[in-house]
Amino acid sequence: MANLTTSLVVLVLWLSLISYAYNVHATRMAHWPRGSSTRFYDFKIQTMKITKLCNTKELVTVNGIFPGPVIYAQEDDRIIVKITNETPYNTTIHWHGVRQRLSCWFDGPSYITQCPIQAGQTFTYEFTLVNQKGTFFWHAHVSWLRATLYGAFVVYPKPGVPYPFNYPYQEHILLLGEYYNKDVVQLERATIASGGNPPVTDAYTINGHPGPNYNCSNNDVYKIDVVPGKTYLLRLINAGLNSENFFAIANHKLTIVEADAEYTKPFTTDRVMLGPGQTINVLVTANQPIGKYSMAMGPYSSAKGAAFQNISAIAHFQYLGAVTNSVSLPAQLPSFSDNLAVKTVMDGLKSLNTVNVPKEIDANLFITIGLNVQKCQSKTPNQNCQGLNNGVMAASMNNISFIKPPISLLEAYYKKMNGSFTEDFPGVPLKFYDFVNGAPNNIPNDTQALNGTRVKVLEYGTRVQLILQDTGTVTTENHPIHLHGYSFYVVGYGTGNYNPQTANFNLVDPPYMNTIGVPAGGWAAIRFLADNPGVWFMHCHLDIHQSWGLGTSFIVKNGEGVLETLPHPPADMPRC
Ligand code: C2O
Repeated sequence: MANLTTSLVVLVLWLSLISYAYNVHATRMAHWPRGSSTRFYDFKIQTMKITKLCNTKELVTVNGIFPGPVIYAQEDDRIIVKITNETPYNTTIHWHGVRQRLSCWFDGPSYITQCPIQAGQTFTYEFTLVNQKGTFFWHAHVSWLRATLYGAFVVYPKPGVPYPFNYPYQEHILLLGEYYNKDVVQLERATIASGGNPPVTDAYTINGHPGPNYNCSNNDVYKIDVVPGKTYLLRLINAGLNSENFFAIANHKLTIVEADAEYTKPFTTDRVMLGPGQTINVLVTANQPIGKYSMAMGPYSSAKGAAFQNISAIAHFQYLGAVTNSVSLPAQLPSFSDNLAVKTVMDGLKSLNTVNVPKEIDANLFITIGLNVQKCQSKTPNQNCQGLNNGVMAASMNNISFIKPPISLLEAYYKKMNGSFTEDFPGVPLKFYDFVNGAPNNIPNDTQALNGTRVKVLEYGTRVQLILQDTGTVTTENHPIHLHGYSFYVVGYGTGNYNPQTANFNLVDPPYMNTIGVPAGGWAAIRFLADNPGVWFMHCHLDIHQSWGLGTSFIVKNGEGVLETLPHPPADMPRC
């Protein structure tokens, strides 16, 4: 009898547990956009031995392939990726360009929306590609692991929806990357400890291959075979770490049709520039004499005096019938400091379709971006203060160098835990001065930034305009600024200090992007509607600048009702 009672009690407990779990699940589903079909991917993050440039090392990648596997999906699909971390490193994955509508918990930047997935742990990312299609990529968002932990993410239009251009004969993905012979996690640590600049990459790569200009790489070349007369769609992705790059194909024109996973008006050019975090789709017609042509990736380095890798990565665009062991025709890349070539490409980017750019603005923010040199505080300056003037290199927004908190900002905000951040990120610089030619404090000498984890809070539905102003505190430089959780309209840009009286805005067909290369010594103006609740990182996509603090975060509050409210976190959220 006693046994039966116990069993009954256990049964009742079980039933209520099951119905509780079911209810939690049901409310979750009601909140999270559901999507059309669901695509499941199983990502095992692993180390893998690799030999490149006559050097053997262990690199971190997914499922034993480098670059990692491609995720394929269609617009509005639901994506589920189970991550198992089989490496000794902390990791997270970010789905670059995916706007994560009501799914901020799955965005991926470490210490912003989640704690890292520790060695041996798993975490499942789940999100819907609401109204999104085009070329994306995924990458690690912790330390410098994304140097090798990256892959493409291709989203096709819904069935029956054509491309807004003639169908290409074939499509190819070209992932531009940087390869380091040393362990990148160590490299970041050593660079930060030194206080100085990072070493330059050992090689640029195209789909992981450096090509024949590099030592020991004659056979380490990526190749696309093309049929004469046919048109190809190339999905260019800059997955590199610390450099911006030009890309060109010998004797062939590139017609840009998409940038940052949004269609653009077709724009034909000889070359493109992509900062890390940018994607561009181009059409290329094989309309030249049968032969073997170089596809080249070289540096765009706008910071004066900065070191960079000057050897181009080469891949082959090879016609059927070409002599296979011939050398390829060289591609013409602009010089490493050609700001005009960059501007020409930017000028060509216009949204294809009608835009929904905010015309009225509720929050007009002005944010300076740039580098700093902090005073040396170390007892061993020779080791730790190798920056300019024996200082320590740093970077900042509005002269505040962003310090990552010890727990995720999103969790701290959601659970109302105090102490890991403050809500006082200023909407304008603390001091106005000649940003391009001056220094922020004791003008023009004191180049120091404040440190802090300061965020900017926005009410749901705020129409935001953001002026990003490059500073010359250390040196002016093109910074690829990336915003999580949104795409934004790039309504204007120019050189020098931003002047509202003279700035020219395009409110008709501005491109809708997620990463904007703010011109060296210039400014860019972006607009977006803050209608996706959560905590969203905004940072320079040059990883060294991110490590130095070039970032901040926006908290976008909930609006009204479930469709404007961030759902609760998943049960398997990693712990710090
Ligand atoms: Cu591509 Cu914050 O990242």
